Amino acid sequence: MACFFRRSIAAKLGRTLQQPEDVFIPALSAVPVFKKQQTADFRLSINTLRANGILPSSGDIQLQTENLASQLKQDSVLEDISAGRGAIHFKVNRKLLVQKILEPFGKDDERFSLNSELFNTLKRGTTLVEYSSPNIAKKFHAGHLRSTIIGNFIANLKQSLGHKVIRMNYLGDWGMQFGLLGAGFGQFGCQEKLKQNPLQHLFEVYVQVNKEAEHNEDINQAARDFFKQLEQRESEAVSLWQQFREITVDEYQRVYKRLGVHFDIYSGESFHQDQAQEVVQQLQSRGLLKTSEKGTGVVDLSPAADMSKVYTVLRNDGTTLYITRDLAAAIDRTEKYQFDEMIYVTDKGQATHFQQLFQILLLMGHSWADRCQHVPFGLVRGMKTRSGEVVFLEDVLDEARARMLHNMSQSKTTKEMDDPEDTAEKVGISALIVQDFKGPLLSDYTFDWDRMLQAQGDTGVFLQYTHARLCSLIRRNEGAEAAVFDPSLLLEQTSVSVLQHLLRYDEVLYQSAQDLQPKHLVNFLLKLSHLIASAHRELPVKGSSRDVAQARLRLFSGACSVLANGMRILGITPVNKM
Ligand code: ARG
Repeated sequence: MACFFRRSIAAKLGRTLQQPEDVFIPALSAVPVFKKQQTADFRLSINTLRANGILPSSGDIQLQTENLASQLKQDSVLEDISAGRGAIHFKVNRKLLVQKILEPFGKDDERFSLNSELFNTLKRGTTLVEYSSPNIAKKFHAGHLRSTIIGNFIANLKQSLGHKVIRMNYLGDWGMQFGLLGAGFGQFGCQEKLKQNPLQHLFEVYVQVNKEAEHNEDINQAARDFFKQLEQRESEAVSLWQQFREITVDEYQRVYKRLGVHFDIYSGESFHQDQAQEVVQQLQSRGLLKTSEKGTGVVDLSPAADMSKVYTVLRNDGTTLYITRDLAAAIDRTEKYQFDEMIYVTDKGQATHFQQLFQILLLMGHSWADRCQHVPFGLVRGMKTRSGEVVFLEDVLDEARARMLHNMSQSKTTKEMDDPEDTAEKVGISALIVQDFKGPLLSDYTFDWDRMLQAQGDTGVFLQYTHARLCSLIRRNEGAEAAVFDPSLLLEQTSVSVLQHLLRYDEVLYQSAQDLQPKHLVNFLLKLSHLIASAHRELPVKGSSRDVAQARLRLFSGACSVLANGMRILGITPVNKM
């Protein structure tokens, strides 16, 4: 929707400076709405033009700005052009602003505005996003929750920008924990409990057997034996392992569904056992595998090749490690899915692991490793529920729902709801997501139920509330919204501010696609909600003449579409009633 204006400005600049218009697109941006009274809608950065070689980078920048501004004449689209500090400001014709932004809203909200010329520079292709990736029988911690919602956001974003997206979950489904689990299950396990509450029961057995292993050498031996049987694919061991895995995946799928998350592929470390040994062979034949003093197999990553920085890929008993399986998994994925880029989402504690992974792949001659990226995030402190520590994803979701339901019970509209539990769940989850996405992903933060669930303030609840309120306004006036409306009835500053803000939507998505940070979108939607709140106050629909009411409804439904669209990209399901 900002396209039309960006195009016209770029075309004018192209004619004036005798350049193809496209070169100006990156230097143009919609002016963020700070103060209420803001006249300019777009700004052209002279610095960017200098950096891109369009204007000479020597000479006085202010002189250049004023010079260029004076050459640009107003026209029917651009009402005012003026020189600011190092930038030229454009004010677009007010009626056109209203028309062009509110025009394209038809039935096809889902995709609107997502074809912006800004996105043409993005290389669209196949993106594989790996996220969530919990470990079977172990705790699902806050890091896994963050990985799940961040990965889902990245996948949604890429998809909405036209990439083909493959969503992958890489389970921790291999390793000594299965030896212990297999050995311990006979003693502490119960098939009945496993069926009733699989994750809980597996975790209990795992905790018990670990405790036992601290003082009981027999159980350790049994664990080693069981794991060996697994590695040798002995059917009894394999079928127990398979049962654990299947039950866990089923259970996770049910919980992910509550979160609105899904995966195309459930892979896992177990898939790459044999391939990991092949990787070791390849490292050897390329002369990259060295033996350390301890007898382990290592790859030397030190610049001087003096073994001062080595990475272990093989234990001295010949078994492979986490990194070896990751090497194999990456190679396998490139062959199977021919991705154009691959994104791993985990906490920052694994940053070195991924650096080393990519480095070893490059050494092995896999130049596509340059198209792999790790998106790290910070720690969450104090994620607790009323009953204590969080062990499972479900605990957090239940708590969010219960607390939200409690807050909602204070409000009278809850009674008119068809399914308050479902609404509380969706709103509670949006609170979790907004709290998590507000700052830079790399920052640590402290989990705070009370703050995140506030209805006022910058929360997910506020976004949902704004959306529900818009929906209710639109519902109450069903049929009143007309296809044709008079743009001159939307020229109040409050309305113009909303429209000016909407001009930034594609830039915000573009920015998020560059650095994969959700904060730009979250802050954009929060600001939009504040502007909508003012519009509700100052531009009533009820009691206005039919024409005015029609025009205002148009504004509200346009804002509602953008809000809903942005929320969906974040991984939030907008509710219609609250
Ligand atoms: N299962 C791992 C953990 O919980 C995360 C896996 C991350 N992905 C990977 N390809 N290594 O720490």
